[in-house]
Amino acid sequence: MNKNIEILVIDDEKPIREGCHRVLTGKGYQVITAENGQKGLDVLAREPVDIVLLDLKMPVIGGEEVLQITREKYPDIPVIIITGHGTVDTAVICMKSGAYDFITKPFQIDQFLLTITRAAEKRRLEKEAHRFKEENIRNLYDLNLEKSRLKTIINQMANGVMVTNRNLEVVLHNPALMRLMEIGEEVENPVPINMITREESLIDTLRQILGGDFPEEESISQEIRVGAKVLRAISAPALSPNGAVAGTVTVLEDITAFKQLDEMKSAFVNMVAHELRSPLVAIRQLNSVLLEGLTGPLEEKQQDFVKRGMNKIDSLLELINDLLDVAKIEAGKFVQHQVPTDLGPIIEETVALMEPRAREQGITLTCSCQNLKPVQADPKNMEEVFNNLVSNAINYSPEGGRVTITARGLGEYMEVKVEDTGVGIPPEELPKIFDKFYRVKHPKTRKVIGTGLGLAIVKGVIEAHHGTIDVESSPDKGTTFKILLPVIT
Ligand SMILES: Nc1ncnc2c1ncn2[C@@H]1O[C@H](COP(=O)(O)OP(=O)(O)OP(=O)(O)O)[C@@H](O)[C@H]1O
Ligand SMILES: [Mg+2]
Repeated sequence: MNKNIEILVIDDEKPIREGCHRVLTGKGYQVITAENGQKGLDVLAREPVDIVLLDLKMPVIGGEEVLQITREKYPDIPVIIITGHGTVDTAVICMKSGAYDFITKPFQIDQFLLTITRAAEKRRLEKEAHRFKEENIRNLYDLNLEKSRLKTIINQMANGVMVTNRNLEVVLHNPALMRLMEIGEEVENPVPINMITREESLIDTLRQILGGDFPEEESISQEIRVGAKVLRAISAPALSPNGAVAGTVTVLEDITAFKQLDEMKSAFVNMVAHELRSPLVAIRQLNSVLLEGLTGPLEEKQQDFVKRGMNKIDSLLELINDLLDVAKIEAGKFVQHQVPTDLGPIIEETVALMEPRAREQGITLTCSCQNLKPVQADPKNMEEVFNNLVSNAINYSPEGGRVTITARGLGEYMEVKVEDTGVGIPPEELPKIFDKFYRVKHPKTRKVIGTGLGLAIVKGVIEAHHGTIDVESSPDKGTTFKILLPVIT
């Protein structure tokens, strides 16, 4: 490692120069020699010298002067003075004026090398320290650059960004947030959250996140209204490097336009469904008049055709009713006639109704009820819920499968589970199956006809009854839907 150390020997005596050169290169140092002070200074000016060995008694410029210049211009370079016997006093003076050490002629090799090694070590340490310092400065510079870049990005974003600390004070926000929250004047961070938003549901969410019982990698999405705008707020914990919750981060997006489009689409679908239902009902009535023979007897073939037409009309009417139900649930106008209801008979009826279809598809359908308690519910709605869940379980199970409905009272709730041993639902699809019109693409269930409205209606109905519905599923193993409904107390 000595080869990284460059030593300049300035001495007017050739044997000394050559001796030093031989000994030091033998130890792996890089050595340059200069025969007088001026030449030595020239070398210093152009070479990255690490150590100077300097003779005091020289013509032209004396060693003391060279030492002085070197100390001034290159204060980091250690200068080791070479002195003859009579000049130790001068050497001491030189030490006072900044020389690193001195060695006396004639050299004792060991002593000489020891002095050089010490100076070389000092140089190495200094260079290392210098390198660290430069690196540190560069890192700080990069960090600052990164910070200002990040700030620019956040400030330019169309979405609002709000970061709070643990005390629910806003410590970072961008112009988009102020625009979305309709706050005119600039605010200085940190500000209490209610200076930015008074939306209780959002503040509650942030409190919940700060409370800590919240999975790290998850975020909470909610819709809030500000004036005429609808915003989607997505909030998540801000974690400190040790993983503790240091605050919250919320990103807000203006979804007013999407909402309006969605409402227009729903209104349109609703209108079309309404317009289609009346003529369909009329066609159905006319067909049933034909079938009942009220316009004269029909031949067998004619009867068959009219019946097939009736079946198609029935499935169309079912679809239209589903569409209208969804529209009503979404508009909050779902009419229910909730009465104290025993779910047992409804479940048994569902099983009886679905049993032929299950048998036809080679599926065993069973039910068991325990500890039943009455719930406040609309029986027709409940029928619809169980029919939908059981018909899904049958539709999405291969031949030989089992479908089980179990109902039991659990404290203040009635739990109803519909379990199947069917194709299952991949985890990434699970959050979407309750969306209207959403259907999972699966090669084994391609032939199943459906519109993707069933589960949207089920969820809407259960929620209108203050209940909850959850699903668990493993692909190729099966699916379980679990409903909880509050019992009458
Ligand atoms: N028990 C189940 N096993 C596997 N996949 C299921 C199950 N229940 C629902 N799914 C999946 O969820 C999707 C949505 O179900 P949903 O009942 O809402 O619609 P659908 O059955 O396709 O049509 P329909 O409106 O006629 O009920 C289905 O298309 C299916 O992919
Ligand atoms: Mg369905």
